[in-house]
Amino acid sequence: MSFKQRMREAAKNKSSPFVLALDFPFEGVENRNRILVRAQKVVKAVYPYICAVKINHHLVLPLGTFDGVQQIVEEIHEQGLLAIMDAKVNDIGATNQVIAEYYFAAGFDAIIANPFVGWEEGLRPLFEISKRLNRGVILLTYMSHKGASEGYGQTVIDSETGEQTPQYISFAKKALKWGADGVVVGATVPEKIAEVKSILGETVAIYSPGVGAQGGEAQTAIEAGASYLIVGREITNADDPTKAAFRLSDSIKRV
Ligand code: XMP
Repeated sequence: MSFKQRMREAAKNKSSPFVLALDFPFEGVENRNRILVRAQKVVKAVYPYICAVKINHHLVLPLGTFDGVQQIVEEIHEQGLLAIMDAKVNDIGATNQVIAEYYFAAGFDAIIANPFVGWEEGLRPLFEISKRLNRGVILLTYMSHKGASEGYGQTVIDSETGEQTPQYISFAKKALKWGADGVVVGATVPEKIAEVKSILGETVAIYSPGVGAQGGEAQTAIEAGASYLIVGREITNADDPTKAAFRLSDSIKRV
């Protein structure tokens, strides 16, 4: 089963479009083990309300890929959830491929990459290794933070048509052309979710971060066209992560 299908299955089985961003604030290096324990606790506390967990450098740096992170990825899978590595891969192709191979060796089901680096000698080797290993690639398309307008929102000349186009529209079209498994569009910009959805239809799923701490609203993002909602601090910083996840889950209408 492809990553796209596995995500659909996980969301259906859990009746949840939520992807937990397993991020925690900085801790002194001597307290690394506390982060591991806290991450394990949060996954155990909220797994009934989510379909996947997204990990980024917040955890890889203190815990190490093949130590703590691989252990957490195994625990994520044991709960019937998928694991996404938010590496925002952004380098030359040869490097991108090796980065992906290590993360896939650690068990990740998909990796997030930045389309700014382009296809040839950029993301092509990453897509090739991902397809070979039956893993997914999710492309940044419009980020959730305010400064996203400076890059993803700028007007560019489309290299194929010669026409002026917003950068994120060009990235959405590339996601279709390159066979991406998903794109990331911030829940903070629902009008952009709707525009991207009109290009991607049901072919490429939209993942929306920025719900909660960054001000985005889950139901609004879904109505605009998001398939999955990425939530971090609203859950991970809560006194009671289970309650926070339940509240989020309760805030959306089920279809
Ligand atoms: P919060 O705490 O704001 O965390 O719920 C959001 C999580 O999502 C990541 N993030 C993004 N990742 N494209 C991405 O690939 C984005 O546009 C984006 N915006 C936020 C962020 O790193 C954190 O893990």
